Amino acid sequence: MELTIDHVGKQYGGERWGLREVTLTLRPGVWGLLGPNGAGKSSLMRILATITCPTTGSVRWNGEDIARNPNPLRAVLGYLPQDFGVYPHLNALEFLHYLAALKGLDHRTASRRIDELLQVVNLVDARKRPLGGYSGGMRQRIGIAQALLNDPQLLIVDEPTVGLDPEERVRFRTLLADLAGERIVILSTHIVSDIESVASAIAILDGGRLVAQTTPEALLQQVEGKVWDWVVPADELGRVRQQHLVSGMTRRADGTRVRVVQARPPAPQAQRLLPTLEDAYLFAVAQPSAEVTP
Ligand SMILES: Nc1ncnc2c1ncn2[C@@H]1O[C@H](COP(=O)(O)OP(=O)(O)O)[C@@H](O)[C@H]1O
Ligand SMILES: [Mg+2]
Repeated sequence: MELTIDHVGKQYGGERWGLREVTLTLRPGVWGLLGPNGAGKSSLMRILATITCPTTGSVRWNGEDIARNPNPLRAVLGYLPQDFGVYPHLNALEFLHYLAALKGLDHRTASRRIDELLQVVNLVDARKRPLGGYSGGMRQRIGIAQALLNDPQLLIVDEPTVGLDPEERVRFRTLLADLAGERIVILSTHIVSDIESVASAIAILDGGRLVAQTTPEALLQQVEGKVWDWVVPADELGRVRQQHLVSGMTRRADGTRVRVVQARPPAPQAQRLLPTLEDAYLFAVAQPSAEVTP
């Protein structure tokens, strides 16, 4: 099972490039696709889901070009788009049966699978309620359920945690971790903590380009010994934020405690901190000019 992304670019309206020269090979595991808004995450996912074709390059599923022959991939694909819409007047059972029919599942297989999935996504009790009355988290879970109808080998979920409250986020993360196994899961987000505990691999996009292809451990290693705790007076905060990569701040009576990511200590009194994946992500997407010491 292998998904090969080979020099893929996507141009919009004949000028703007949403994606540039992305090359990446994915094998089973959970991939966290990280990047700020506009980085190209959805563009890449739409190409992988065969919704749109790349302008340059190609994508191969087990060696087969998906633009030329999308069917082998579509048969094993589960996709939750970023702007997933539901039919508000259908209940969960009706909605899932409808999509199962579109995917070509026979009624008996569909019924069994839907019963299983409603348990997996914890919506058994809400299965006869119209989707229009669902919370954001419940909608995302029904979205995941529809993506899993065909027990996909390739599961693509685009920013599934947007709009979820903290409790729903945790539940969602647990659900994704349970889904890992002999499949490729790609989960995009701009929130590092969403993938911290579930991703076995990380790809970082920024400005349409792949800036890192790594593991959580290796990413963390990049900022080992480079995270500093530094208390700065209120009137220096603006300058500090301009000249350093600040990954966190806490106000205090005597100034602001900033968390700075850079190789050298920002000041003699700065204390070294243990890095987090968030520090490492910010460091990876930061412009080189961010690491300027006074
Ligand atoms: N359909 C579109 N038409 C024109 N530009 C687009 C379209 N989709 C995305 N873009 C542009 O491509 C870039 C990447 O967008 P997108 O893939 O949505 O990023 P992300 O999902 O990481 O926020 C952005 O600059 C965005 O404005
Ligand atoms: Mg997006």
